[in-house]
This record gives sequence, C-alpha cells and structure tokens, in this order.
Amino acid sequence: MNGTLEAIFKRRAVKVFEPVEISEGIREQILNAARHAPSSFNMQPYRFYWIGTPKKKTAVAKLCLGQVPAETASALVVAVADIGSLAATSQSQLEWMRSRSEFSEAKIRDYERTAKIGRMLFMPGPFGIFGAVKWGVFWLLNVWKVMGMPPVSRQDLFKWATKSTSLACENLLIAAEVLGIHTCPMEGFDGRRLLKYLGLSARYHEIVVVIAMGKKSRTWVEPPQWRRPLDATVSIL
Ligand SMILES: Cc1cc2nc3c(=O)[nH]c(=O)nc-3n(C[C@H](O)[C@H](O)[C@H](O)COP(=O)(O)O)c2cc1C
Repeated sequence: MNGTLEAIFKRRAVKVFEPVEISEGIREQILNAARHAPSSFNMQPYRFYWIGTPKKKTAVAKLCLGQVPAETASALVVAVADIGSLAATSQSQLEWMRSRSEFSEAKIRDYERTAKIGRMLFMPGPFGIFGAVKWGVFWLLNVWKVMGMPPVSRQDLFKWATKSTSLACENLLIAAEVLGIHTCPMEGFDGRRLLKYLGLSARYHEIVVVIAMGKKSRTWVEPPQWRRPLDATVSIL
C-alpha cells in the first residue's frame, strides 16, 4: 500500500506512551509537515507550541486534566488558532513576493490590494459593530447574488481559523506516524489556564487541540478501531 495511506490507516490515538527522546530532526519534519497544510487564503492562522522540557510538560499535562496520554507523552504540541497574525502574515508574504523575480510589480500590487480588502472584510471592529454592519450588507447582497459569507464576528473568525488549524494538525499526526512517532489529539484541557500559561490572549488565540506525542507503551493495549460505515459518512451525488 502507498506509504501515506498506510500511515493514515495505521494511526491510532495512543493513550499511554513510554519515555523516548524525539530528536530535533524528527521534530522539525513533523512541524514542517503541519505548516505545509492548505489554509484559507493561505493565511496559516495558527501557531504550534512544542512543549518538550520536563518542567513545562508536567505543567501543561496538568492543564490537560492530568490525562494519561499527556502525563506520559515525550512532548506536547499545543495547536492554537491565531486570529491576531493576519496582518503580519500578509506582510511577510508581500516581502517574500518582492524578494522573488517571478512576481511582477502589478502582481505584487494586486496581492497588496487584495490583502488589504481581506483584512478589512475579516475585521470584527470594536464591540463587533463593523461585524454587525457587514452581516446586514452581506445578507442583503446574498438575497440576489450567489456568494460566500465572510466571518463577521470574532467567534466566526475563530471558527474560520480553526478549520485551517485542524488541517495542519492532521498533517502533523500523519507525518508523526510516518516517522514512527505516535500521537493522541486531546480536547480535554483547561483552555483558559493553558492560554494564560502560554502568555496568550483570548482576544486573538484559541486552543484547538493539544497533541500528545511519543512512542506507544508496550503496556498499552490497542482497542479495535470502529468507524461508521462508508455509506453513513458519505453521500455520492
Ligand atoms: C478533536 C479530538 C479531541 C480528542 N480528545 C481526546 C482527549 O481529550 N483525550 C483522549 O484520550 N483522546 C482524545 N481524542 C482521541 C479520540 O478519542 C480518538 O481519536 C477516537 O476515539 C478514535 O480512535 P482512533 O483515533 O484510535 O481511531 C480526541 C480526538 C479528537 C479528534
């Protein structure tokens, strides 16, 4: 079977790990795989925190409600949806485009303009006032025109960022599996305390998932894997 498919079918949420060191090389490959995932408007609205030092791991595992996968992991990766990074990301892409010969001045100006409009469209504004106005305008436009709805509230923005973050997380899980590292994604954590521990603000950051990483323990008995049948999950139209 194709190696990627094999990793997808082999990956399990491992609940007990044994202590191993994850080398810097492996760590880099796993994180690189995560950031190569597709993202909405290529905005990559996330940040991964790799927690590998024993003291910090213990603190974060406690905030993951002391779950066994967190307590026994060799590293914990906190995946954060970051809606405060948009301006910096488009600026960074702009600089990258300017440094390369394949982008004409017109193309760069075009990107600059689109990024500016995008940022304005995505801004909820103070007290969500701009968001409410946007919602009204787009709702009216949608009555006579086929169109998508931009995120209007901060909550919408987090939902938008979470989609791209989740895709990056799946890349991370599969890359880890290919490289012989087992994982357990966890949403059992105290989000408020974990944000505070990482020095992040709830205004711009939301923790999507914490991923425990390591080598599965020989004591861990893998339960059979159940999935809904294909026809319960898929509609072929
Ligand atoms: C978003 C999400 C949150 C999860 N949260 C936890 C968790 O907090 N603790 C845990 O032990 N497993 C957690 N899991 C793992 C699931 O229990 C596991 O993926 C599911 O039972 C299917 O098992 P499999 O991944 O081995 O096929 C989570 C998985 C996902 C995708």
